[in-house]
Amino acid sequence: MLDTADGRPPPELGAEGPLVGRTELLARAGDRLRRGRAVLLSGPVGIGRTALLEALADRADRDGALVLRCAPARAESRLPFLALIDLYDQLDESGLAAVDALPAAQRAALDAALTGGPPAVSRRQGELALRLAVLSLLRALARPGRPVVLAIDDLQWLDRPSAELLAFAARRVRRLPVGVVATVRTPLTGGDVALHLRALPQPAEELPVEPLEFGRLAELLGRRLAAGVPGWALREIHRTSGGNPHFALELARAVAGGRAVPRPGEPLPMPAHLRAEARRLLGPLSPGARETLLLASLGVGLGPASPTVDSLRAAGRPRAVVEVAEAVRLRVVEPPAEDGVVRFTHPLLPAALRAEASQDQRLAALTALTAGAARPSPAIQPARGRDAVGGGGGPFAALAEMERRVVGLVTEGGTNREIAARLCVSVKTVEATLTRVYRKLGVRSRVDVVRLAAGAPA
Ligand SMILES: Nc1ncnc2c1ncn2[C@@H]1O[C@H](COP(=O)(O)OP(=O)(O)OP(=O)(O)O)[C@@H](O)[C@H]1O
Ligand SMILES: [Mg+2]
Repeated sequence: MLDTADGRPPPELGAEGPLVGRTELLARAGDRLRRGRAVLLSGPVGIGRTALLEALADRADRDGALVLRCAPARAESRLPFLALIDLYDQLDESGLAAVDALPAAQRAALDAALTGGPPAVSRRQGELALRLAVLSLLRALARPGRPVVLAIDDLQWLDRPSAELLAFAARRVRRLPVGVVATVRTPLTGGDVALHLRALPQPAEELPVEPLEFGRLAELLGRRLAAGVPGWALREIHRTSGGNPHFALELARAVAGGRAVPRPGEPLPMPAHLRAEARRLLGPLSPGARETLLLASLGVGLGPASPTVDSLRAAGRPRAVVEVAEAVRLRVVEPPAEDGVVRFTHPLLPAALRAEASQDQRLAALTALTAGAARPSPAIQPARGRDAVGGGGGPFAALAEMERRVVGLVTEGGTNREIAARLCVSVKTVEATLTRVYRKLGVRSRVDVVRLAAGAPA
């Protein structure tokens, strides 16, 4: 937590409370704004762009700038001049006096744009007069010592006529103390913002909003959620959210608000909203590619156990090469690296694949993956596998709690080292536990354990 007692500045306030982290980004963006420059905060849904923009705008306001904000919405992006209207509404008395002082033609063009009325002159002349009116206003309002800062949240939804005005002004305010801080939403799997950047006064700088590291995310969740989240779940939330504050808040609320808190190694409950986010990207996958990726998703985050294209083929997916290539085209999976590991473009995607699959599908995939065996069998019975392990039924009745947990993680494809890390015990403990499990179950390997969990004879 930031501590004012040690001489550091107090945390900046976002829209919903103090910001965690982001110190460097705030300093860099703030510095540019103070010098009348433009910054573009880019990043995917929920990464924290609005929180940063608000903090920067508030800071500029405190520093004496005239801050004019607008936050275009997707649903309203077809309404002409909406952003101009929002900005105009924030003018104070001196701003309105500047409007009154505009030449008559510019004043009339501005009125027409703000009220939706017809221009008094030809369309072309009206457009020019309006552009000049906006420029005149910026010239009148921006003074050394009292710069103007335009704060535009979600630039991608700016209505077209306002966007054209902004671009016109952007090319002409170079020498004026007019700072712009804008945000733009990029696809979850990355995207290009060059077009948006060019619409701002030059030289504009893109500042990508990066995921939060573990400590910061834990701090954010600690501040925002009344109920605590168990330590292991925090790690899991950080992993699945990819450090995205919004995803993390949703996942943590689902964990804290759920009837049964998941146990170590169990998948996190995935809120419908996040599934929908992932579905947008996963939707276009062919059924075959989706099934292959489900297999890949079960090994995600398990280090050396992470599936490669070869291991997917060995696990009964003969078309894995083509299917993975399809997923690369759809930006679900990263282009192949040298180690051949199949890496998802965002950790939410494998989590959603796992959450969307039925238990039967998951078990079949796990069996195939762990054994490197034939195609997943549709004959696996429901209510077996991990739940059977967790519930203590069937062949697992004789196992102690710790032994069941280890078995549960074995069925997820975890190595001894990974299981040890998840359960916060030593590797030796895992090995000793597994030896006991083999003896009690009368089996010789982890593959046998997975088969038993899946309801097949070991
Ligand atoms: N650095 C941070 N410190 C504290 N809370 C944060 C931080 N970043 C984001 N949040 C919180 O996470 C949530 C998502 O952040 P925010 O709305 O700023 O994201 P966004 O990128 O603007 O998302 P959207 O794509 O929906 O516009 C909000 O509840 C916000 O308060
Ligand atoms: Mg936002």
